[in-house]
Amino acid sequence: MTKPKILIARAVFPEIIAKLAQHFEVETNQADVVWTAAELTAKLQGKVGAFVTSSDPLNAAVIAACPELKICASMAVGYNNFDVPAMTAAGILATNAPDVLTETTADFGFALLMATARRVSESEAYLRAGLWTKWSYDMFAGADIHGATLGIIGMGRIGQGIAKRGAHGFGMKVVYHNRSRLDAATETQCKARYVSKEELLRTADHIVLVVPYSKEAHHTIGAAELAQMKPSACLVNIARGGIVDDAALALALREKRIAAAGLDVYEGEPQVHPDLLTVSTVVLTPHIASASIPTRMAMANLAADNLIGYLLHKKAVTPLNVPVNIA
Ligand code: DGY
Repeated sequence: MTKPKILIARAVFPEIIAKLAQHFEVETNQADVVWTAAELTAKLQGKVGAFVTSSDPLNAAVIAACPELKICASMAVGYNNFDVPAMTAAGILATNAPDVLTETTADFGFALLMATARRVSESEAYLRAGLWTKWSYDMFAGADIHGATLGIIGMGRIGQGIAKRGAHGFGMKVVYHNRSRLDAATETQCKARYVSKEELLRTADHIVLVVPYSKEAHHTIGAAELAQMKPSACLVNIARGGIVDDAALALALREKRIAAAGLDVYEGEPQVHPDLLTVSTVVLTPHIASASIPTRMAMANLAADNLIGYLLHKKAVTPLNVPVNIA
């Protein structure tokens, strides 16, 4: 019996390829070429399933040009690269990879916050450049984490993980802003107080962004918001590029209107706004918040399970939509 054909759009663990190959005829991309929408469309011809990442564009044009496609399974939790309404209308199931990355990503949010507040990258660059000749009382003196007020914008699973780390591990006062307020029990677990965005911007010592990308969330932090923050504040973005106006942030950092920033995601990544590259008070990492080996394996396994579950048994683990039945 011929196996259904699927595409794995980016390089992935060999174990995942082997798992999928038990059920499907698999075309891989172990060279890890980043395909354009047109190249992806060409590769998807004749495929019923696609294993993708958050950087593969599953937009309306691609969807319209792939009539045999039944499921797009992403190994990412964020799915702003998916046109979900177009998939639904075309009878295609969309799945993402929630939960499995929550704690790892919250760990990284905290790591980036600490590196930013305590000037880890900046001081390491100084040392490596051979500039360290003596101890000085104020050399790379930064901000404290313990006891500070942590503001979290976007209080989903990852935001809650960061709140717990801050409140329980570092004795921080946690305030949060979210589209909807959490229930009282969750607020108590996170030791977090709901405030308006304005109050959060005004009062937080450190602000961590964990909102999913949407048109409404575009530039959640722009020039106006940066102007409301404390001059001593640190801003961390582990959400998505476009949540922060990177040009406005670079200017605010350069003019010392806020103290520091830690960024894992960028507008137009993997391009990084050139002004950010020349500011020393920003810690820059290449979209690695979920990148521990066990977690990346769990994310890939979940995407594979969604493909197997749906194509073999019509049952996905983490569906994002209910496709219109066009059979
Ligand atoms: C996610 O899962 O959304 C991460 O940002 C990786 O893309």
